[in-house]
Amino acid sequence: MARESGNSMVIPKQGHVIAIDGPAGTGKSSATRRLAERLGFVHVDTGALYRAIGLLALEGRAEGDQVSEIARSAHLEFRRIEGKNPANRIFVNGRDVTDQIRTPEISMAASRVSAIPAVRLALLSLQRRLGCAGNSILEGRDIGTVIFPDADVKFFLTASIDVRVKRRLLELQGSGGVIPSFDELKSQMIERDRGDSSRAVAPLSKAEDAIEIDTGPLTLDQVVQRMLEKVRGCLDGLPQSGVAALKK
Ligand code: DC
Repeated sequence: MARESGNSMVIPKQGHVIAIDGPAGTGKSSATRRLAERLGFVHVDTGALYRAIGLLALEGRAEGDQVSEIARSAHLEFRRIEGKNPANRIFVNGRDVTDQIRTPEISMAASRVSAIPAVRLALLSLQRRLGCAGNSILEGRDIGTVIFPDADVKFFLTASIDVRVKRRLLELQGSGGVIPSFDELKSQMIERDRGDSSRAVAPLSKAEDAIEIDTGPLTLDQVVQRMLEKVRGCLDGLPQSGVAALKK
């Protein structure tokens, strides 16, 4: 049963929780998706929640308290679409916004709304509920420090700014949208890093007990392999699918 502790909901975990934090472009999403598949864990992309609120705020030209109200009243939901390319889609108030929230404009809007303490509070118990529902991997900025300070395993991914910009450009090229120049994207990412790391509430920072991985010199497979090795060292009593993955 859930119970309230001050402003935050404390919910008992039903399984293992892995926290993955780090700035944009470190390969967090790809590594988290791959690791979740290998372990049979649920993947929760918490950035998508902030992006969805950023989208609603932009559409409604909302500011300050209006954004907080949007975050409090929004119905946010992940739905898993099975099939040839299984994927997690995000719905806000019944609308699938998965593709729409991946633009540089929404990245900046998400970062802005994420600095509003009431927005963070509005999304906090949802993130905990999602993570507590079973074996899960959550990726974000404050998972290991605020959302799940008691996560079973914590990773903090880093990479140089130039590597991160190149990766983000590649992702955007695949999305079919407007592609910014390298320099334009680099200054946006620097601004976003600064905002995410300097905000008053739950800034991006490495938890003391997080395992840091510099993904710059590594391929995605190498990052995932390194994570699997660490998870193997930290977790016991994994579900069968997880155990099978770890033995590979
Ligand atoms: O991971 P992302 O790039 O999709 O995140 C978009 C923005 O959302 C990011 O700039 C900061 C914010 N965010 C956050 O503040 N806390 C999280 N746990 C996840 C994302």
